[in-house]
Amino acid sequence: WPYLLAAAVAGYLLGSIPFGLVLSRIAGYGDIRKIGSGNIGATNVLRTGNKPLAALTLVLDSGKGAFAVLVASRFGPDAAVLAGAGSMLGHTFPVWLGFNGGKGVATALGVLLAVSWPVGVIACLTWLLVAFALRYSSLSALVALGISPLTGWYFAGPQVGQLCAFIAVLVYIRHHANIRRLLKGEEPRIGSKKKAES
Ligand code: G3P
Repeated sequence: WPYLLAAAVAGYLLGSIPFGLVLSRIAGYGDIRKIGSGNIGATNVLRTGNKPLAALTLVLDSGKGAFAVLVASRFGPDAAVLAGAGSMLGHTFPVWLGFNGGKGVATALGVLLAVSWPVGVIACLTWLLVAFALRYSSLSALVALGISPLTGWYFAGPQVGQLCAFIAVLVYIRHHANIRRLLKGEEPRIGSKKKAES
């Protein structure tokens, strides 16, 4: 079990690196938490108008989840799953930001791709499909990760299904403000100039 604990803690620490916050500060936009929805993720970095910076945030936030899983998988599937769950907790509740972090979508996609690529690919394609059709980043994530417990269980077994359910619950909790706005018809669409209050 020391390996399992180490995997979860290492995953948490890796996941807690707030790339969106660091990159937007380096790029001169100041504190990303004062822009748009106030979130530290790629969707909100995109609201600075800097597409490459948003893409880099997406890649690094996904990459840290995938990296945690791939390294831990050397110690077995249990360690991989715990590292993935840890990286999600690190991203959403980072100790460095007073436990108030991101919404977990990019990190979740990285974790899923590394845990079971068909599950990850289906989640990414679902995100893209909903985003192209309806242009809501949050709704795309809610649909893509909402179905992942089923695809996870189907393609990779009950343990991965449980990990996907844990990830989906975290993502839904972190999107409570988005869900409220979606229900009221007030969620800004991707590319819209409307301010997304969090
Ligand atoms: O990845 C987070 C996304 O689903 C919503 O982000 O900034 O629109 O709240 P945001």
